Amino acid sequence: MSTRTESQPIIRIHKPADFECMRKAGQLTATLLDELVLAAKPGVTTAALDKLCVEFARDHKAIPATIGYRGYKYALCTSINHVVCHGMPNDKPLLDGDIVNIDVTLIVDGWYGDSSRMVNVGEVSRKAERLVEVTYECLMRGIAAVKPGGRLGDIGHAIQSFAEAERCSVVRDFCGHGLGQVFHDHPNVLHYGRPGEGVQLKPGMFFTIEPMINLGKPHVKVLADGWTAVTRDRSLSAQFEHTVAVTETGCEVFTYSPKGLHCPPYPA
Ligand code: MF3
Ligand code: CO
Ligand code: CO
Repeated sequence: MSTRTESQPIIRIHKPADFECMRKAGQLTATLLDELVLAAKPGVTTAALDKLCVEFARDHKAIPATIGYRGYKYALCTSINHVVCHGMPNDKPLLDGDIVNIDVTLIVDGWYGDSSRMVNVGEVSRKAERLVEVTYECLMRGIAAVKPGGRLGDIGHAIQSFAEAERCSVVRDFCGHGLGQVFHDHPNVLHYGRPGEGVQLKPGMFFTIEPMINLGKPHVKVLADGWTAVTRDRSLSAQFEHTVAVTETGCEVFTYSPKGLHCPPYPA
């Protein structure tokens, strides 16, 4: 079933059985992220993390959604320091002091679970640590704005107002997205906006919220590899992502960490 709105073509309204499918996809994705955030230590390569993802997917009858997606070759995006998103895993070891976003999407029985978390690698600077804390709080404030009758602009405003009050900026060039049995569907979920504006939220809508927050200016450029997005001013950038649903009473988060590894610091 679908609903039509002024500003977006079609937004699918999912039924209760679909929620059960998303719980499975979301929980498997979050279980994998629990392993990944514990594995991301100084000296470990992002290619090794990617391999861990491929093997986990194989062992759990899941498919990494990004392999082959628009020519992308990896199971993960690993975005380090001033990389905003879509960093490609490689053979360089993570370094003490890096902050890295690990973004993974698993397809389970045809349903997409999409989530990302930051890792503080070893000891990071206080400003990096603060950016990661602010970004996590942005995601949680965005989630707190999800309720039936609310609007997408309420989510964007919750994120933007907090980020800017903390003297950080919100990346405009990438957004969250509807998903379900499709990876990137309507609506676009902007991480900035005005309360009361945009698409009205209805029970059964599934989408991601995935704010990218910079310590400097919001501007981004994509490198010559066609994927890696970096801050133009080379300031640090951070991101967290959850897959959520609008429910009759508020919001359900499909990708919560089963081990409670929601954000740094993670146990050694
Ligand atoms: N997981 C990303 C998202 O949150 C999408 C990455 S697409 C890729 O939407 F091709 F860059 F992997
Ligand atoms: Co996403
Ligand atoms: Co993602």
